[in-house]
Amino acid sequence: MTDDDSLSTALWTTRSVEDTVALYRDWAATYDADVLGSGYVTPIRAAAMLAQHVALDTPVLDFGCGTGLSGKALAEAGFTCVDGTDITPEMLALAEGSGWYRRLWLSDPGDLDIKTGAYPAILACGVVSLGAAPPETLVLLVDRLAPDGLLVFSYNDPTLKDAAYMGQLQALLDDGTARLVAREHGPHLPDKGLGSEVIVLQRR
Ligand SMILES: C[S@@+](CC[C@H](N)C(=O)[O-])C[C@H]1O[C@@H](n2cnc3c(N)ncnc32)[C@H](O)[C@@H]1O
Repeated sequence: MTDDDSLSTALWTTRSVEDTVALYRDWAATYDADVLGSGYVTPIRAAAMLAQHVALDTPVLDFGCGTGLSGKALAEAGFTCVDGTDITPEMLALAEGSGWYRRLWLSDPGDLDIKTGAYPAILACGVVSLGAAPPETLVLLVDRLAPDGLLVFSYNDPTLKDAAYMGQLQALLDDGTARLVAREHGPHLPDKGLGSEVIVLQRR
């Protein structure tokens, strides 16, 4: 996939799980070069935000770890215990070769096979968004946190304009499942003129 194809506006659209896995299967080999070539910075911002709220030896799950760029950002922020999971085998295989993770596994979409509280912190960077995991993924992730656990995730600019994704976030806040700890808008893929919001939720 060329840079122009992979990061065109066509990426940010709702698609089925099968189409999502196929997209990332076909993109895996050039993903890092494509996104880093456009200045992809959200993982660094998200890892820095998490480091403001938990100790660096906290076990962190990198949900939707992809090729490992978000694990790299966590490690470079100082986190020492990072596990990862993803639904796309070809992305996960690259994460396995990256050396940033203690443990990695292939997960089924919508089924996060971990015990509640297994991870005091979960990062989902570039994952819950138009073109990737659906809005209800937020519910799944918060549900796997023990009370006081933290979820750090990003919504890119197209996702910030989507009523379903924004509605799901608001519902979690309104029904008292989670409280908002921090949110900050900044660069996502700056060379494409795209921003993202990094959001920190705490399970109540
Ligand atoms: C844009 S990449 C982000 C990867 C990595 N977190 C990063 O920052 O580079 C999105 C990843 O989310 C994964 N993904 C999409 N839908 C998912 C789902 N329902 N559950 C878990 N991972 C999913 C894809 O396979 C892909 O690896």
